[in-house]
Amino acid sequence: MRHCIYPGTFDPITYGHLDVLARAAKLFDKVTVAVAESAGKAPLFPAAQRVGLIAANVAPWPHVSVTTFNGLLVEFCMAHQADAIIRGLRALSDFEFEFNMALMNRHLQPKIETLFVMPNEQFSYTSSTLVKQVAKFGGDVAHFVPPNVAAELKKAFAGKP
Ligand code: COA
Repeated sequence: MRHCIYPGTFDPITYGHLDVLARAAKLFDKVTVAVAESAGKAPLFPAAQRVGLIAANVAPWPHVSVTTFNGLLVEFCMAHQADAIIRGLRALSDFEFEFNMALMNRHLQPKIETLFVMPNEQFSYTSSTLVKQVAKFGGDVAHFVPPNVAAELKKAFAGKP
């Protein structure tokens, strides 16, 4: 049974993340989406809400579950008996950060491999920050996020200047 962890802040989940998840779901018997509390990033949505927004979009994959984590990712992986971490590479600009993170995680725990998949190129410029910025100023984010996320973004920014 091959188990991978897909970690991230997911503030909020986008179609780009779901594209990575679909690829991971094809390759692994079990996938756990691990939502980092990421307090340092001052997320718009609390972790429990981010989990809920993801969970509502994983119905096509019964072997995918969603949970939160705190602390070191590799420790979470070991505690959940995972074999690998999966990350998406949207563009060359992601490479350096991802390369360093993969090597650091390997240093911390050599048993866990990091694997990279390329999301569909239509998502190469999508990021949670940009989506939030577009939503904040009333732009249409339907191309980038599922309907439940678009609705929560609208609510979150309603009445804010
Ligand atoms: N589609 C759309 N956007 C994507 C994407 C994709 N396929 N892949 C990445 N992104 C975007 C995200 O939306 C996010 O955008 P934002 O910065 O505007 O919010 C950005 O790329 C990176 O986010 P994400 O992939 O969620 O990673 P992260 O940097 O938020 O999370 C952790 C990184 C949580 C996995 C990492 O910090 C971690 O493991 N922390 C735990 C502590 C630890 O173990 N540290 C040692 C690791 S070396």
